[in-house]
Amino acid sequence: MADGKTALIVGASRGLGLGLVRELSGRGWLVAATVRDPSSAKAPTDLGVGVEQLDVTDLRAVEALSARLGRGSLDLLVLNAGVSGPRDLMAAEPEAIAATFITNAAGPARAAHALAGAVKPRTGVVAFMSSLMGSIGDNNSGGSDTYRASKAAMNSYARSFHHRAAEAEGITTLSLHPGWVRTDMGGERAPLDVDTSVRGLAEVCEAASGRGDHRFIQYDGRELPW
Ligand SMILES: NC(=O)c1ccc[n+]([C@@H]2O[C@H](COP(=O)([O-])OP(=O)(O)OC[C@H]3O[C@@H](n4cnc5c(N)ncnc54)[C@H](OP(=O)(O)O)[C@@H]3O)[C@@H](O)[C@H]2O)c1
Repeated sequence: MADGKTALIVGASRGLGLGLVRELSGRGWLVAATVRDPSSAKAPTDLGVGVEQLDVTDLRAVEALSARLGRGSLDLLVLNAGVSGPRDLMAAEPEAIAATFITNAAGPARAAHALAGAVKPRTGVVAFMSSLMGSIGDNNSGGSDTYRASKAAMNSYARSFHHRAAEAEGITTLSLHPGWVRTDMGGERAPLDVDTSVRGLAEVCEAASGRGDHRFIQYDGRELPW
């Protein structure tokens, strides 16, 4: 049990974000969650966690949340929000491509910088919910090009975040792959259920505390090629 440890999950209305809220709460963490629409039936209000309204692309709102949290109040920050984006690069509107990059890469990166002061020095962990599809080394087929590129960009932003805002404080940065999981995004054919993925992700995040490095790692602890 991690009694008294604190986590903030950004993008927790459903799927893996909501699953992480449940998993960490069950492990004794004190969890706060952000959702875009708190009136949504899927918002995790039944768990007794604090729920904040937040769009990850709204930097002013993230900064206001950071001020409310106070310095060094979080053991774990998870930037989970993400979208699939347009499948077909050549048929997509430029605005849809840009929106995917802002939601999946620049938004979470700016949120991490804005919230970094709320993460505990030395033991704190900042986890970006990336994807194996963001790995250039593992890209053997292409497809979902914009999603892949947005997660590769997220990985690059995470490394820059680590050097500029985490390393000197001893904060650990993670780029996480949850596996292919049955959620609205992952679809019904995905082999993993949410509970299995978030159990592994919680263990990876708990074990990372104090390392002070940045790794690309999946839910079962395996490190991934960049
Ligand atoms: N499922 C998989 O197999 C898989 C594999 C690799 C990586 N991932 C990554 O894991 C993360 C969660 O995916 P999921 O499968 O749980 O997807 P999901 O079921 O589609 O959930 C996506 C979550 O992101 C939130 N979100 C989207 N845009 C947002 C924004 N601008 N601001 C704040 N929140 C926003 C959604 O909130 P709303 O309810 O308001 O839309 C929802 O809570 C994503 O980053 C995804 O890329 C998933």
